[in-house]
Amino acid sequence: MTYLDPKTINKLNTRQIRTFKKSAHNRSLQMLTCYDYQSAQMLNETTLDLILIGDSLGNVVLGYDYTIEVSTETMILFSKAVKKGSPDKFVIADLPFGSYASMELGLANSIKLFQQSGVEALKLEGAYDHEIILIERLTQIGIPVMGHIGLTPQSVHEQGGYFTHGKDEKSKTKLLKEAQALEAAGCFAIVLEFVEESLAKLITEKLTIPTIGIGSGIHTDGQVLVINDLLHLGKKDPPKFCKPIANLYQTKKQLIEDYLK
Ligand code: KIV
Repeated sequence: MTYLDPKTINKLNTRQIRTFKKSAHNRSLQMLTCYDYQSAQMLNETTLDLILIGDSLGNVVLGYDYTIEVSTETMILFSKAVKKGSPDKFVIADLPFGSYASMELGLANSIKLFQQSGVEALKLEGAYDHEIILIERLTQIGIPVMGHIGLTPQSVHEQGGYFTHGKDEKSKTKLLKEAQALEAAGCFAIVLEFVEESLAKLITEKLTIPTIGIGSGIHTDGQVLVINDLLHLGKKDPPKFCKPIANLYQTKKQLIEDYLK
């Protein structure tokens, strides 16, 4: 067992992440989203393991109702800024909606986003056959891929809203198969979003690569949160599973009010 000491290990690589199981390391892999240069500089100085430029930037930065509106060009712009601010972190960027709808689109957009932003890996949602084939291809050409199953916000309309996945037998079997297919395709880690807790545990036990949960309970190898939720940067309360460590919306508002007096 190799112990990754967060105080001494700075930038992780895919060999280290691929084999990171919470049971062996006695701690969780921690990932936060980030969307701007200055926050990336700050996170670069922390012991955080992984940074994700999530397409959730559509919701929290651009005010869109759905991540569906986010384009590849937008992801490139924000990813470049974050990667510039956090050279010492393993940074992952989301492939946005529609950008991997076919093999040709997926290859072209992945190469563009990976090459122009300088991030270390890409993440994509889903595990349909064409996505599995694309992941195999991307890993073969040197682009590490993080998978993402369960609630996949780019498919919110197709899935029928935001809810916990894996509650019934059919959906449990499907999700377990998807997770195994993603691992076999070459993913170095998988995000489990809103996956029923006991299923998230089972998937975590079955896979050799780490699972990173959000709203999926405590048993995954890692946890990911939207930084805006963790710091309560927005006007609305964060989702229930996130316990904010501050209310920076109120704090900043009060500071501005004090300044204006
Ligand atoms: O876009 C995002 O922020 C994400 C995380 C919630 C996993 O995909």
